[in-house]
Amino acid sequence: MRIILDTANLDDIRYFNTYFPIEGVTTNPTILSHEGGDVLKLLSEIRAIIGEEKEMHVQVTETEYDKIVEEAKAIVKFLGNKKNTFVKIPATDVGLRATMALSKEGYGITVTAVLSAAQAMLASNAGAAYVAPYVSRLENICADGVGTVADIVEIFATSGTKTQILAASFKTAKEVLDVAVAGCHTATVSADVLRKLLSHTTTDTSIAGFAADWKKAFGDTTLLALLNK
Ligand code: G3P
Repeated sequence: MRIILDTANLDDIRYFNTYFPIEGVTTNPTILSHEGGDVLKLLSEIRAIIGEEKEMHVQVTETEYDKIVEEAKAIVKFLGNKKNTFVKIPATDVGLRATMALSKEGYGITVTAVLSAAQAMLASNAGAAYVAPYVSRLENICADGVGTVADIVEIFATSGTKTQILAASFKTAKEVLDVAVAGCHTATVSADVLRKLLSHTTTDTSIAGFAADWKKAFGDTTLLALLNK
């Protein structure tokens, strides 16, 4: 399952873009509000860090049909690269209308704030490139977030749609793994959850053990130093 980073924090984006195999960055108005300041400069800097080939998903703030369409086109024009800039539009009736119109013109639309498989099905029928089901927001109200993603996987497999699932809103690393097992295509995760997906105390103790055993047998040299002799 592909992983995208769900943040607008430039330090985190620089770090994860260097060390982790991330496919891009997603933002929403709340995520952008955490950074504050000049939002256009921030979006440009994110694009500059990840480059043209990685995905950027930016959400509209307008709510009227004509304005959503205008804003979506302006976002893509500003960030460039129609292929890798996706416009996030919430799953509403107006959102579906905008998704149909923009998709027909070749814009990549991520229908977001998806809280049911039914919404995902409609978004797919509207031509969305991605649907973004909110896993933790469902789990937090005693609903089945992971099960909803599994249902969407099944519905999309049956219909043969090109729409991809971009699962979002994770509070735990386990939820991310669970949607991967369910067959989800892509997940967008926070820096905190992404760190947890990699870190393991037994990995750390194993590495420490290798280093100690090597040093006991061979001293301060390294394999590279021996090979370079
Ligand atoms: O992309 C935003 C989505 O992941 C929402 O996440 O943590 O606000 O529920 P959260």
